[in-house]
Amino acid sequence: MITKKVETFSQKNVLLNGEWRENENGERITLTSPSTREEIGSVPALSESEVGTAVNAAKEAQRKWAKTPLHERKQLLYRWADNLEEHKEVIGTMIMKEVAKKKSSAVDEVVRTADFIRHTAEEGVRLNGELLTGDSYNGGPASKTAQVSHVPLGVVLAIAPFNYPLNLSASKIAPALMTGNGVVFKPATQGSLSGIMMMEALDQAGLPKGLVNITTGRGSEIGDTLVTHKGIDQISFTGGSETGLSLSKKAGMIPLVLELGGKDPAIVLEDADLDKAAKEITGGAFSYSGQRCTAIKRVLVKEEAADELVDKLKEKVEELSVGLPEDDADVTPLINDKGADYVQGLIDDAIDKKAKVVTGDERKENLISPTLLDHVSTDARIAWEEPFGPVLPIIRVTSEEEAIKIANDSEYGLQASVFTQDIDAAHRIADQLEVGSVQLNGKTSRGPDHFPFLGVKNSGLGVQGVRYSLLSMTRQKVKVLNG
Ligand code: G3P
Repeated sequence: MITKKVETFSQKNVLLNGEWRENENGERITLTSPSTREEIGSVPALSESEVGTAVNAAKEAQRKWAKTPLHERKQLLYRWADNLEEHKEVIGTMIMKEVAKKKSSAVDEVVRTADFIRHTAEEGVRLNGELLTGDSYNGGPASKTAQVSHVPLGVVLAIAPFNYPLNLSASKIAPALMTGNGVVFKPATQGSLSGIMMMEALDQAGLPKGLVNITTGRGSEIGDTLVTHKGIDQISFTGGSETGLSLSKKAGMIPLVLELGGKDPAIVLEDADLDKAAKEITGGAFSYSGQRCTAIKRVLVKEEAADELVDKLKEKVEELSVGLPEDDADVTPLINDKGADYVQGLIDDAIDKKAKVVTGDERKENLISPTLLDHVSTDARIAWEEPFGPVLPIIRVTSEEEAIKIANDSEYGLQASVFTQDIDAAHRIADQLEVGSVQLNGKTSRGPDHFPFLGVKNSGLGVQGVRYSLLSMTRQKVKVLNG
């Protein structure tokens, strides 16, 4: 059944080939708030054939869109960003309800997303190609000239995670549109309502028919159809490493950008400013209750500084408020009980292996208090596994080399922090860490969003960040002029 095009946010249906529709079989997925456990809405569970409709519509619309002047694409993105920002309260409230992110951070996510879209529009109009002359190559003919331009890939499949339902969706969709691609958008199931609102804001900004299509449904049911569909020309995925790996095996020979898990260490040397380190580490580890791929997920501290750092961390961690996102608490319920059980399992295992609880380790359903564990041994699972929750293990080390070894023995390689006042040591350590980015005397984090953002090993593939995302959604087209 086809419903009327929305004028305000309805959050009920999906956008397929330019129409806001219910799905044909009427099957829906009910979403409940992770914090209040109340029902907050439902989204259609699309069938495989509806997924096909989405891809085909994007393919058809993309051909025309690729010919649309850059300044017109830029205007669409600006109108989208303005719509989002204008409705930041209502969209932020939905993010808060849907993924239990504290209210102020949820609203900030909307503003950050609008900023990202505008910056993408600005950078996108400046994505010029280049001209190479043949005679710059040894013995090459001056009569040949290569005109190299960036052309769209076709249809981008944007698969977003729950933790930034708006930002990590728009950071795929905006560069795709700006570079002339069509989009099939698969929001995280818990995050679909915010994702649909975001697309309503885009549609109302004047999105051409069929250019972006939403495919809600269980990843386990439609995921394979999406990633193996012949009409998909690029996949941009943020989520768990296991899913990323399985997706890359199925996807075949198309470009992939994968932002996956992390086990970011904060290495603290004995000469570090420990007040600053404690503040940065606490923010880095516990914001959004640790449900960030870039969260600090272990501290590797030199024995000489460990007692003092632990005291300062304890003080900072105990200042965090614990409660409901509606009350703007710092640490809020995790996305689901399964996630909380997993975190609890890691805490219990570390305690069994002689870790000492400095603070925390209290739980009510999926709300886990911020937990600091000291004297964690490298035998403990939490030294290596990603909790995606509010727990921070402290591993004491006796040398810089030991810290680097433990950092690099990880399967992950997203980011790392190094805290020291010795500039030479900071560079020496940073140069040896097998990660995408090293933060010197600061917490691990992705932004500002025009910086390159990448992971090595099981943390990902490809580079994101405004300009890099734009480039990842194009290929070079070469025209050789023979004089
Ligand atoms: O978890 C996703 C990752 O992109 C985190 O971003 O901004 O929290 O560092 P951010």
